[in-house]
Amino acid sequence: GNVLHYDFVLKETNFTRLCSTKSMLTVNGSFPGPKIQVYRGDTVYVNVHNQGLYGVTIHWHGVRQPRNPWSDGPENITQCPIQPGTNFTYEVIFTTEEGTLWWHAHSDWTRATVHGAIIILPPPPATYPFPKPYAEETIVLGEWYKGDVMAIIDDALATGGDPNVSDAFTINGQPGDLYNCSNGTTYHLVAEYGKAYLLRIINAVMNEEQFFAIAQHNLTVVGADGAYTKPITTNYIMITPGQTMDVLVTTNQSRSLYYIASTPYADTTAPFDNTTTTAILQYNGNYTRPSSIPFPPLPAYNDTVAAGNFTTRLRALASKEHPVNVPKTITTRIFIAVSVNQLICPNASCSGPDGNRLSASLNNISFLTPSIAVLQAYYKGLNGVFGGDFPSVPPYLFNFTGDVGNNTLYPSQGTKARFIKYGEAVEIVFQGTNVGAAENHPMHLHGFSFYLVGTGLGNFNNVTDPANFNLIDPPEFNTIGVPKNGWATIRFFADNPGVWYMHCHLERHASWGMDTVIIVTNGPTNATTIRPPPAYMPPCSS
Ligand code: C2O
Ligand code: CU
Repeated sequence: GNVLHYDFVLKETNFTRLCSTKSMLTVNGSFPGPKIQVYRGDTVYVNVHNQGLYGVTIHWHGVRQPRNPWSDGPENITQCPIQPGTNFTYEVIFTTEEGTLWWHAHSDWTRATVHGAIIILPPPPATYPFPKPYAEETIVLGEWYKGDVMAIIDDALATGGDPNVSDAFTINGQPGDLYNCSNGTTYHLVAEYGKAYLLRIINAVMNEEQFFAIAQHNLTVVGADGAYTKPITTNYIMITPGQTMDVLVTTNQSRSLYYIASTPYADTTAPFDNTTTTAILQYNGNYTRPSSIPFPPLPAYNDTVAAGNFTTRLRALASKEHPVNVPKTITTRIFIAVSVNQLICPNASCSGPDGNRLSASLNNISFLTPSIAVLQAYYKGLNGVFGGDFPSVPPYLFNFTGDVGNNTLYPSQGTKARFIKYGEAVEIVFQGTNVGAAENHPMHLHGFSFYLVGTGLGNFNNVTDPANFNLIDPPEFNTIGVPKNGWATIRFFADNPGVWYMHCHLERHASWGMDTVIIVTNGPTNATTIRPPPAYMPPCSS
Protein backbone atom coordinates (compact mmCIF):
# COMPACT_ATOMS: atom_id res chain seq x y z
CA GLY A 1 0.00 0.00 0.00
CA ASN A 2 0.87 3.68 -0.29
CA VAL A 3 1.79 5.94 2.59
CA LEU A 4 -0.06 9.26 2.82
CA HIS A 5 0.30 12.24 5.15
CA TYR A 6 -2.36 14.66 6.34
CA ASP A 7 -2.20 17.64 8.69
CA PHE A 8 -5.25 18.34 10.83
CA VAL A 9 -5.23 21.71 12.59
CA LEU A 10 -7.84 21.82 15.34
CA LYS A 11 -8.95 25.38 15.92
CA GLU A 12 -11.90 27.51 16.93
CA THR A 13 -13.62 28.94 13.85
CA ASN A 14 -16.69 31.19 13.48
CA PHE A 15 -19.67 29.69 11.69
CA THR A 16 -23.09 31.20 11.01
CA ARG A 17 -26.20 29.03 10.77
CA LEU A 18 -29.87 29.64 11.64
CA CYS A 19 -29.31 33.43 11.87
CA SER A 20 -26.61 33.28 14.54
CA THR A 21 -22.84 33.02 14.70
CA LYS A 22 -20.80 30.93 17.09
CA SER A 23 -17.22 29.89 17.51
CA MET A 24 -16.71 26.14 17.31
CA LEU A 25 -13.90 23.62 17.09
CA THR A 26 -13.10 22.56 13.52
CA VAL A 27 -10.39 20.74 11.61
CA ASN A 28 -8.63 23.05 9.12
CA GLY A 29 -11.50 25.53 9.49
CA SER A 30 -14.10 23.41 7.72
CA PHE A 31 -17.43 21.84 8.70
CA PRO A 32 -17.69 18.99 7.94
CA GLY A 33 -13.94 18.52 8.13
CA PRO A 34 -11.54 17.37 5.40
CA LYS A 35 -12.02 14.11 3.56
CA ILE A 36 -9.36 11.40 3.69
CA GLN A 37 -9.16 9.31 0.51
CA VAL A 38 -7.08 6.15 0.25
CA TYR A 39 -6.82 2.84 -1.56
CA ARG A 40 -7.46 -0.34 0.39
CA GLY A 41 -4.22 -1.35 2.08
CA ASP A 42 -2.76 2.17 2.43
CA THR A 43 -1.38 3.66 5.64
CA VAL A 44 -2.10 7.25 6.58
CA TYR A 45 -0.23 9.43 9.06
CA VAL A 46 -2.42 12.22 10.38
CA ASN A 47 -0.59 14.85 12.37
CA VAL A 48 -3.17 16.49 14.64
CA HIS A 49 -2.11 19.95 15.83
CA ASN A 50 -4.35 21.12 18.65
CA GLN A 51 -4.70 24.90 18.48
CA GLY A 52 -8.05 24.77 20.30
CA LEU A 53 -9.05 25.50 23.88
CA TYR A 54 -9.17 22.02 25.40
CA GLY A 55 -7.74 18.54 25.01
CA VAL A 56 -9.10 16.44 22.14
CA THR A 57 -8.57 13.05 20.48
CA ILE A 58 -9.53 11.74 17.02
CA HIS A 59 -11.00 8.29 16.21
CA TRP A 60 -10.97 6.54 12.81
CA HIS A 61 -14.42 5.04 13.00
CA GLY A 62 -14.55 1.55 11.47
CA VAL A 63 -10.83 1.28 10.71
CA ARG A 64 -9.76 -1.92 12.45
CA GLN A 65 -6.17 -0.79 13.14
CA PRO A 66 -4.72 -4.29 13.54
CA ARG A 67 -2.55 -4.55 16.66
CA ASN A 68 -2.48 -0.77 16.81
CA PRO A 69 -4.91 0.47 19.48
CA TRP A 70 -2.44 3.31 20.22
CA SER A 71 -3.87 5.23 17.26
CA ASP A 72 -7.56 4.35 17.80
CA GLY A 73 -8.39 7.52 19.69
CA PRO A 74 -11.15 7.29 22.33
CA GLU A 75 -10.22 9.66 25.15
CA ASN A 76 -8.94 7.96 28.29
CA ILE A 77 -9.57 4.54 26.76
CA THR A 78 -6.63 4.23 24.35
CA GLN A 79 -4.92 7.56 24.93
CA CYS A 80 -5.05 10.73 26.96
CA PRO A 81 -6.09 13.91 25.14
CA ILE A 82 -3.85 15.97 22.87
CA GLN A 83 -3.50 19.13 24.94
CA PRO A 84 -3.77 22.63 23.41
CA GLY A 85 -0.47 23.70 21.92
CA THR A 86 0.68 20.12 21.30
CA ASN A 87 0.37 17.62 18.48
CA PHE A 88 0.13 13.87 18.01
CA THR A 89 0.53 11.80 14.83
CA TYR A 90 -1.96 8.99 14.34
CA GLU A 91 -0.93 6.00 12.26
CA VAL A 92 -4.09 4.80 10.54
CA ILE A 93 -3.60 1.36 9.04
CA PHE A 94 -6.09 0.29 6.40
CA THR A 95 -6.28 -3.43 5.69
CA THR A 96 -9.45 -5.00 4.24
CA GLU A 97 -11.96 -2.15 4.64
CA GLU A 98 -13.37 -0.86 1.34
CA GLY A 99 -16.09 1.74 0.84
CA THR A 100 -16.91 4.59 3.21
CA LEU A 101 -15.92 5.16 6.83
CA TRP A 102 -15.38 8.38 8.75
CA TRP A 103 -13.28 10.04 11.41
CA HIS A 104 -14.45 12.08 14.37
CA ALA A 105 -13.25 13.61 17.61
CA HIS A 106 -13.69 11.22 20.53
CA SER A 107 -13.68 13.56 23.53
CA ASP A 108 -17.00 14.39 25.18
CA TRP A 109 -19.27 15.94 22.54
CA THR A 110 -16.58 17.45 20.31
CA ARG A 111 -17.52 15.14 17.46
CA ALA A 112 -20.55 17.38 16.73
CA THR A 113 -18.25 19.73 14.81
CA VAL A 114 -15.08 17.66 14.37
CA HIS A 115 -15.75 14.93 11.81
CA GLY A 116 -15.21 14.03 8.16
CA ALA A 117 -15.35 11.27 5.56
CA ILE A 118 -12.89 8.46 4.87
CA ILE A 119 -13.15 7.07 1.34
CA ILE A 120 -11.44 3.72 0.66
CA LEU A 121 -11.20 2.84 -3.02
CA PRO A 122 -10.42 -0.56 -4.52
CA PRO A 123 -6.72 -0.55 -5.39
CA PRO A 124 -6.24 -0.90 -9.17
CA PRO A 125 -6.63 -3.23 -10.96
CA ALA A 126 -9.43 -4.11 -8.49
CA THR A 127 -12.75 -2.43 -9.23
CA TYR A 128 -16.11 -1.89 -7.57
CA PRO A 129 -18.34 -4.96 -7.52
CA PHE A 130 -20.95 -2.85 -9.40
CA PRO A 131 -20.82 -0.78 -12.61
CA LYS A 132 -18.47 2.16 -12.27
CA PRO A 133 -20.47 5.27 -11.36
CA TYR A 134 -20.11 8.45 -13.42
CA ALA A 135 -19.22 10.43 -10.28
CA GLU A 136 -19.21 10.19 -6.48
CA GLU A 137 -20.45 12.54 -3.76
CA THR A 138 -20.07 12.43 0.01
CA ILE A 139 -23.23 13.19 1.99
CA VAL A 140 -22.52 13.88 5.67
CA LEU A 141 -25.63 13.99 7.85
CA GLY A 142 -24.91 16.21 10.84
CA GLU A 143 -26.58 18.12 13.62
CA TRP A 144 -26.40 21.83 14.44
CA TYR A 145 -26.63 23.27 17.92
CA LYS A 146 -26.96 27.03 18.35
CA GLY A 147 -25.22 26.67 21.69
CA ASP A 148 -21.80 25.31 22.53
CA VAL A 149 -21.97 21.51 22.49
CA MET A 150 -19.50 21.03 25.31
CA ALA A 151 -21.56 23.34 27.53
CA ILE A 152 -24.75 21.48 26.58
CA ILE A 153 -23.50 18.12 27.79
CA ASP A 154 -21.73 19.60 30.82
CA ASP A 155 -24.97 21.31 31.90
CA ALA A 156 -26.98 18.13 31.38
CA LEU A 157 -24.54 16.06 33.42
CA ALA A 158 -24.55 18.71 36.16
CA THR A 159 -28.35 18.80 36.46
CA GLY A 160 -28.96 15.12 35.73
CA GLY A 161 -31.55 15.91 33.07
CA ASP A 162 -31.76 15.47 29.30
CA PRO A 163 -29.32 17.57 27.24
CA ASN A 164 -30.82 20.23 24.96
CA VAL A 165 -31.77 18.81 21.59
CA SER A 166 -30.15 20.19 18.45
CA ASP A 167 -31.63 23.12 16.52
CA ALA A 168 -31.25 21.61 13.05
CA PHE A 169 -30.01 18.64 11.14
CA THR A 170 -27.57 19.31 8.34
CA ILE A 171 -26.51 17.83 5.01
CA ASN A 172 -22.86 18.60 4.29
CA GLY A 173 -22.96 21.27 6.99
CA GLN A 174 -26.09 23.06 5.72
CA PRO A 175 -29.53 22.92 7.38
CA GLY A 176 -31.46 23.46 4.12
CA ASP A 177 -34.55 25.31 2.93
CA LEU A 178 -36.90 24.42 5.79
CA TYR A 179 -34.97 26.35 8.47
CA ASN A 180 -34.64 30.08 9.11
CA CYS A 181 -31.86 31.97 7.34
CA SER A 182 -30.77 28.82 5.52
CA ASN A 183 -32.12 28.67 1.99
CA GLY A 184 -29.28 30.64 0.44
CA THR A 185 -26.74 28.02 1.42
CA THR A 186 -28.62 24.73 0.91
CA TYR A 187 -26.31 22.02 -0.37
CA HIS A 188 -26.81 21.33 -4.10
CA LEU A 189 -25.76 18.05 -5.66
CA VAL A 190 -25.32 19.10 -9.29
CA ALA A 191 -25.68 16.14 -11.66
CA GLU A 192 -25.75 15.34 -15.37
CA TYR A 193 -28.84 13.71 -16.84
CA GLY A 194 -28.77 9.95 -17.34
CA LYS A 195 -25.78 9.03 -15.17
CA ALA A 196 -25.15 6.84 -12.13
CA TYR A 197 -23.91 8.63 -9.00
CA LEU A 198 -22.41 6.94 -5.97
CA LEU A 199 -23.50 8.69 -2.78
CA ARG A 200 -21.40 7.95 0.27
CA ILE A 201 -23.77 8.72 3.14
CA ILE A 202 -22.44 9.10 6.70
CA ASN A 203 -24.62 9.49 9.78
CA ALA A 204 -22.55 11.87 11.93
CA VAL A 205 -25.65 12.98 13.87
CA MET A 206 -25.13 13.04 17.65
CA ASN A 207 -28.34 11.58 18.96
CA GLU A 208 -30.76 10.31 16.30
CA GLU A 209 -31.06 7.59 13.73
CA GLN A 210 -32.08 9.07 10.39
CA PHE A 211 -34.33 8.31 7.44
CA PHE A 212 -32.97 9.61 4.13
CA ALA A 213 -34.61 9.82 0.69
CA ILE A 214 -34.48 11.67 -2.65
CA ALA A 215 -37.74 12.68 -4.32
CA GLN A 216 -38.69 10.45 -7.29
CA HIS A 217 -35.35 8.60 -7.29
CA ASN A 218 -34.68 5.05 -6.22
CA LEU A 219 -31.68 4.36 -4.03
CA THR A 220 -29.65 1.20 -4.61
CA VAL A 221 -27.63 0.34 -1.51
CA VAL A 222 -24.33 -1.36 -2.44
CA GLY A 223 -22.30 -1.00 0.74
CA ALA A 224 -22.39 -0.17 4.44
CA ASP A 225 -19.70 0.48 7.07
CA GLY A 226 -16.81 -0.13 4.68
CA ALA A 227 -18.07 -3.47 3.33
CA TYR A 228 -20.09 -4.34 0.22
CA THR A 229 -23.69 -5.48 0.38
CA LYS A 230 -25.91 -7.26 -2.11
CA PRO A 231 -27.57 -4.43 -4.04
CA ILE A 232 -31.02 -3.59 -2.73
CA THR A 233 -33.30 -0.98 -4.22
CA THR A 234 -35.45 1.15 -1.96
CA ASN A 235 -37.01 4.59 -1.84
CA TYR A 236 -35.63 5.44 1.62
CA ILE A 237 -32.84 4.25 3.88
CA MET A 238 -32.56 4.21 7.68
CA ILE A 239 -29.06 4.87 8.94
CA THR A 240 -27.97 4.78 12.56
CA PRO A 241 -25.38 7.20 14.04
CA GLY A 242 -21.93 5.89 13.25
CA GLN A 243 -23.00 3.95 10.17
CA THR A 244 -22.22 4.74 6.54
CA MET A 245 -24.13 3.63 3.46
CA ASP A 246 -23.03 3.65 -0.17
CA VAL A 247 -25.95 4.22 -2.48
CA LEU A 248 -26.25 4.39 -6.29
CA VAL A 249 -28.69 6.89 -7.78
CA THR A 250 -29.49 7.18 -11.49
CA THR A 251 -30.45 10.63 -12.76
CA ASN A 252 -33.21 9.50 -15.11
CA GLN A 253 -36.08 11.81 -14.16
CA SER A 254 -37.59 14.68 -16.12
CA ARG A 255 -37.40 17.72 -13.86
CA SER A 256 -34.55 20.00 -12.93
CA LEU A 257 -34.73 19.99 -9.11
CA TYR A 258 -35.60 17.40 -6.49
CA TYR A 259 -35.43 17.56 -2.72
CA ILE A 260 -33.07 15.31 -0.84
CA ALA A 261 -34.31 15.04 2.76
CA SER A 262 -33.43 13.47 6.07
CA THR A 263 -35.50 13.27 9.22
CA PRO A 264 -35.04 11.41 12.50
CA TYR A 265 -36.27 7.93 13.32
CA ALA A 266 -36.85 8.20 17.06
CA ASP A 267 -39.62 6.08 18.50
CA THR A 268 -39.14 7.32 22.04
CA THR A 269 -40.66 9.42 24.77
CA ALA A 270 -37.29 11.11 25.35
CA PRO A 271 -36.98 14.60 23.85
CA PHE A 272 -35.45 14.72 20.37
CA ASP A 273 -35.02 17.14 17.49
CA ASN A 274 -37.89 16.35 15.12
CA THR A 275 -36.99 18.75 12.30
CA THR A 276 -36.08 17.90 8.70
CA THR A 277 -32.96 18.82 6.78
CA THR A 278 -32.90 19.14 3.00
CA ALA A 279 -30.50 19.42 0.11
CA ILE A 280 -31.25 19.65 -3.61
CA LEU A 281 -30.48 17.29 -6.45
CA GLN A 282 -30.06 19.66 -9.38
CA TYR A 283 -29.89 18.41 -12.96
CA ASN A 284 -27.34 20.39 -14.94
CA GLY A 285 -28.71 22.28 -17.93
CA ASN A 286 -30.85 25.20 -18.94
CA TYR A 287 -33.77 24.80 -16.61
CA THR A 288 -35.80 27.57 -15.05
CA ARG A 289 -36.49 27.07 -11.38
CA PRO A 290 -39.92 25.44 -11.02
CA SER A 291 -42.53 26.85 -8.65
CA SER A 292 -42.41 23.75 -6.51
CA ILE A 293 -39.75 21.14 -5.96
CA PRO A 294 -40.87 17.54 -5.38
CA PHE A 295 -40.32 16.38 -1.81
CA PRO A 296 -39.61 12.73 -0.98
CA PRO A 297 -42.07 10.80 1.17
CA LEU A 298 -40.25 9.92 4.40
CA PRO A 299 -41.54 7.51 7.05
CA ALA A 300 -42.97 9.11 10.21
CA TYR A 301 -40.43 9.70 12.99
CA ASN A 302 -41.83 6.76 15.00
CA ASP A 303 -42.33 4.33 12.12
CA THR A 304 -40.60 1.30 13.61
CA VAL A 305 -41.98 -0.95 10.88
CA ALA A 306 -40.44 1.17 8.12
CA ALA A 307 -37.11 1.29 9.95
CA GLY A 308 -37.08 -2.48 10.46
CA ASN A 309 -38.26 -3.26 6.91
CA PHE A 310 -35.25 -1.48 5.49
CA THR A 311 -32.63 -2.73 7.94
CA THR A 312 -33.57 -6.40 7.71
CA ARG A 313 -33.09 -6.41 3.91
CA LEU A 314 -29.34 -5.75 4.10
CA ARG A 315 -27.09 -8.73 3.25
CA ALA A 316 -23.36 -9.10 2.78
CA LEU A 317 -22.24 -9.30 -0.84
CA ALA A 318 -20.59 -12.66 -0.02
CA SER A 319 -18.78 -12.96 -3.35
CA LYS A 320 -15.53 -14.73 -4.20
CA GLU A 321 -13.60 -11.45 -3.97
CA HIS A 322 -15.49 -10.29 -0.86
CA PRO A 323 -16.16 -13.43 1.19
CA VAL A 324 -17.93 -13.67 4.52
CA ASN A 325 -15.86 -14.86 7.47
CA VAL A 326 -18.46 -15.38 10.18
CA PRO A 327 -17.86 -17.85 13.05
CA LYS A 328 -20.14 -20.86 12.48
CA THR A 329 -19.61 -22.12 16.01
CA ILE A 330 -18.73 -19.85 18.89
CA THR A 331 -16.38 -20.22 21.82
CA THR A 332 -17.27 -17.08 23.81
CA ARG A 333 -20.70 -15.60 24.33
CA ILE A 334 -21.46 -12.33 26.07
CA PHE A 335 -25.06 -11.36 26.77
CA ILE A 336 -25.45 -7.62 27.32
CA ALA A 337 -28.58 -5.89 28.57
CA VAL A 338 -28.66 -2.31 27.25
CA SER A 339 -30.59 0.18 29.38
CA VAL A 340 -31.21 3.81 30.09
CA ASN A 341 -31.72 4.19 33.82
CA GLN A 342 -31.27 6.45 36.84
CA LEU A 343 -28.83 7.29 39.57
CA ILE A 344 -29.88 8.74 42.90
CA CYS A 345 -29.43 12.50 42.92
CA PRO A 346 -26.61 13.45 45.30
CA ASN A 347 -28.17 16.76 46.37
CA ALA A 348 -31.91 15.98 45.98
CA SER A 349 -32.44 18.56 43.24
CA CYS A 350 -31.76 16.79 39.95
CA SER A 351 -33.90 17.33 36.88
CA GLY A 352 -34.07 13.72 35.64
CA PRO A 353 -37.08 11.39 36.15
CA ASP A 354 -38.32 11.14 39.76
CA GLY A 355 -35.87 13.92 40.70
CA ASN A 356 -32.97 11.56 39.90
CA ARG A 357 -30.04 11.76 37.50
CA LEU A 358 -30.36 10.10 34.09
CA SER A 359 -27.82 7.38 33.46
CA ALA A 360 -27.28 4.46 31.11
CA SER A 361 -25.69 1.06 31.46
CA LEU A 362 -24.52 -2.19 29.93
CA ASN A 363 -25.35 -5.18 32.13
CA ASN A 364 -26.45 -2.70 34.77
CA ILE A 365 -23.00 -1.14 35.04
CA SER A 366 -22.81 2.53 34.22
CA PHE A 367 -19.32 3.15 32.85
CA LEU A 368 -17.04 5.63 34.58
CA THR A 369 -14.31 6.99 32.32
CA PRO A 370 -10.93 6.75 34.08
CA SER A 371 -8.36 9.55 34.11
CA ILE A 372 -5.55 7.28 32.91
CA ALA A 373 -6.12 5.55 29.56
CA VAL A 374 -7.18 1.90 29.96
CA LEU A 375 -4.70 0.89 27.23
CA GLN A 376 -1.76 2.40 29.09
CA ALA A 377 -2.88 0.81 32.36
CA TYR A 378 -3.25 -2.59 30.67
CA TYR A 379 0.02 -2.38 28.74
CA LYS A 380 2.05 -1.22 31.72
CA GLY A 381 0.21 -3.37 34.26
CA LEU A 382 -0.99 -0.41 36.36
CA ASN A 383 -3.52 -1.42 39.00
CA GLY A 384 -6.54 0.55 40.08
CA VAL A 385 -7.51 2.05 36.70
CA PHE A 386 -10.07 -0.54 35.58
CA GLY A 387 -11.48 -3.89 36.66
CA GLY A 388 -11.51 -6.92 34.37
CA ASP A 389 -14.85 -8.13 35.71
CA PHE A 390 -17.41 -6.87 33.20
CA PRO A 391 -20.02 -9.64 33.52
CA SER A 392 -20.94 -12.07 30.72
CA VAL A 393 -24.62 -11.90 31.62
CA PRO A 394 -26.75 -9.23 33.29
CA PRO A 395 -26.89 -9.47 37.10
CA TYR A 396 -30.68 -9.79 37.02
CA LEU A 397 -32.40 -11.98 34.47
CA PHE A 398 -35.81 -10.46 34.01
CA ASN A 399 -38.40 -9.91 31.33
CA PHE A 400 -36.25 -7.35 29.50
CA THR A 401 -39.04 -5.84 27.45
CA GLY A 402 -41.56 -5.92 30.28
CA ASP A 403 -40.50 -5.54 33.92
CA VAL A 404 -38.86 -2.44 35.24
CA GLY A 405 -37.90 -3.17 38.83
CA ASN A 406 -35.72 -1.20 41.19
CA ASN A 407 -32.93 -3.73 40.56
CA THR A 408 -32.82 -2.79 36.91
CA LEU A 409 -33.64 0.87 37.25
CA TYR A 410 -30.61 1.69 39.38
CA PRO A 411 -27.26 0.55 37.92
CA SER A 412 -23.96 0.33 39.73
CA GLN A 413 -21.06 2.44 38.48
CA GLY A 414 -17.60 1.29 37.54
CA THR A 415 -14.79 1.08 35.00
CA LYS A 416 -15.10 -2.54 33.95
CA ALA A 417 -13.56 -4.26 30.95
CA ARG A 418 -14.09 -7.72 29.52
CA PHE A 419 -11.05 -9.85 28.56
CA ILE A 420 -11.35 -12.06 25.48
CA LYS A 421 -8.62 -14.47 24.46
CA TYR A 422 -7.00 -13.88 21.10
CA GLY A 423 -8.61 -16.13 18.48
CA GLU A 424 -11.91 -16.78 20.24
CA ALA A 425 -15.04 -17.01 18.09
CA VAL A 426 -17.23 -14.43 19.81
CA GLU A 427 -20.96 -13.87 19.93
CA ILE A 428 -22.47 -10.84 21.61
CA VAL A 429 -26.21 -10.71 22.19
CA PHE A 430 -27.36 -7.15 22.79
CA GLN A 431 -30.70 -7.20 24.55
CA GLY A 432 -32.62 -3.93 24.47
CA THR A 433 -34.79 -3.32 27.51
CA ASN A 434 -37.65 -0.99 28.18
CA VAL A 435 -36.04 0.42 31.27
CA GLY A 436 -36.16 4.22 30.94
CA ALA A 437 -37.21 5.83 27.67
CA ALA A 438 -36.65 2.83 25.42
CA GLU A 439 -35.24 3.47 21.97
CA ASN A 440 -32.82 1.93 19.54
CA HIS A 441 -29.20 1.87 20.64
CA PRO A 442 -26.56 2.09 17.91
CA MET A 443 -23.93 -0.15 19.49
CA HIS A 444 -20.45 0.39 18.10
CA LEU A 445 -17.33 -1.73 18.64
CA HIS A 446 -13.86 -0.34 17.99
CA GLY A 447 -11.13 -2.53 16.48
CA PHE A 448 -13.49 -4.83 14.57
CA SER A 449 -16.23 -5.13 12.10
CA PHE A 450 -18.73 -7.83 12.93
CA TYR A 451 -21.56 -9.77 11.34
CA LEU A 452 -25.15 -9.13 12.32
CA VAL A 453 -26.42 -12.73 12.38
CA GLY A 454 -29.84 -12.08 13.80
CA THR A 455 -32.17 -9.47 15.23
CA GLY A 456 -35.71 -9.50 16.52
CA LEU A 457 -38.31 -7.97 18.82
CA GLY A 458 -38.96 -8.98 22.41
CA ASN A 459 -36.65 -11.11 24.55
CA PHE A 460 -33.84 -13.05 22.87
CA ASN A 461 -34.67 -16.74 22.98
CA ASN A 462 -31.57 -18.81 23.47
CA VAL A 463 -33.14 -21.92 21.93
CA THR A 464 -35.30 -20.79 19.04
CA ASP A 465 -33.55 -17.62 17.84
CA PRO A 466 -30.11 -19.11 17.01
CA ALA A 467 -31.87 -21.62 14.73
CA ASN A 468 -32.73 -18.69 12.45
CA PHE A 469 -29.32 -17.01 12.41
CA ASN A 470 -27.98 -16.02 9.01
CA LEU A 471 -24.52 -17.58 8.76
CA ILE A 472 -24.44 -17.42 4.95
CA ASP A 473 -24.53 -13.72 4.05
CA PRO A 474 -25.01 -11.72 7.26
CA PRO A 475 -24.30 -8.00 6.77
CA GLU A 476 -21.01 -6.70 8.16
CA PHE A 477 -21.08 -3.53 10.27
CA ASN A 478 -19.13 -1.68 12.92
CA THR A 479 -22.33 -0.13 14.36
CA ILE A 480 -25.80 -1.65 14.58
CA GLY A 481 -29.08 -0.28 15.88
CA VAL A 482 -30.23 -2.63 18.65
CA PRO A 483 -34.00 -2.38 18.25
CA LYS A 484 -36.13 -0.78 20.90
CA ASN A 485 -37.46 -3.59 23.08
CA GLY A 486 -35.66 -6.14 20.95
CA TRP A 487 -32.27 -7.77 20.44
CA ALA A 488 -29.42 -7.98 17.97
CA THR A 489 -26.75 -10.69 17.85
CA ILE A 490 -23.31 -10.17 16.34
CA ARG A 491 -20.40 -12.54 15.69
CA PHE A 492 -16.72 -12.00 14.98
CA PHE A 493 -13.32 -13.57 15.48
CA ALA A 494 -11.24 -11.92 18.23
CA ASP A 495 -8.25 -11.62 15.90
CA ASN A 496 -7.16 -8.09 16.82
CA PRO A 497 -5.23 -7.83 20.08
CA GLY A 498 -5.85 -4.51 21.80
CA VAL A 499 -8.01 -2.44 24.08
CA TRP A 500 -11.22 -1.63 22.26
CA TYR A 501 -14.04 0.62 23.31
CA MET A 502 -17.63 -0.51 22.86
CA HIS A 503 -20.47 1.96 23.34
CA CYS A 504 -23.79 3.34 22.22
CA HIS A 505 -23.26 5.90 19.44
CA LEU A 506 -26.10 8.08 20.74
CA GLU A 507 -23.85 10.61 22.38
CA ARG A 508 -26.07 11.26 25.37
CA HIS A 509 -26.20 7.55 26.19
CA ALA A 510 -22.42 7.24 25.88
CA SER A 511 -22.07 10.22 28.24
CA TRP A 512 -24.43 8.55 30.72
CA GLY A 513 -22.40 5.34 30.89
CA MET A 514 -23.58 3.04 28.06
CA ASP A 515 -20.00 1.96 27.40
CA THR A 516 -17.54 -0.79 28.17
CA VAL A 517 -14.11 -1.98 27.02
CA ILE A 518 -13.16 -5.25 25.34
CA ILE A 519 -9.55 -6.29 25.85
CA VAL A 520 -8.40 -8.88 23.33
CA THR A 521 -5.28 -10.38 24.85
CA ASN A 522 -2.07 -11.14 23.03
CA GLY A 523 -1.92 -14.21 20.81
CA PRO A 524 0.78 -16.85 20.65
CA THR A 525 3.21 -15.14 18.27
CA ASN A 526 4.81 -11.73 17.94
CA ALA A 527 2.54 -11.04 14.99
CA THR A 528 -0.51 -11.54 17.21
CA THR A 529 0.44 -9.18 20.01
CA ILE A 530 -0.24 -5.48 20.53
CA ARG A 531 2.44 -3.42 18.80
CA PRO A 532 4.74 -1.43 21.04
CA PRO A 533 3.56 2.13 21.66
CA PRO A 534 4.85 4.94 19.44
CA ALA A 535 7.73 6.97 20.85
CA TYR A 536 5.39 9.77 21.83
CA MET A 537 1.93 9.38 23.37
CA PRO A 538 0.09 12.36 24.90
CA PRO A 539 0.80 12.16 28.64
CA CYS A 540 -1.99 11.23 31.00
CA SER A 541 -1.40 13.89 33.61
CA SER A 542 -0.60 17.48 32.76
CU1 C2O B 1 -17.70 6.59 16.13
CU2 C2O B 1 -16.31 5.25 19.72
O1 C2O B 1 -17.02 5.96 17.93
CU1 CU C 1 -28.20 4.16 23.41
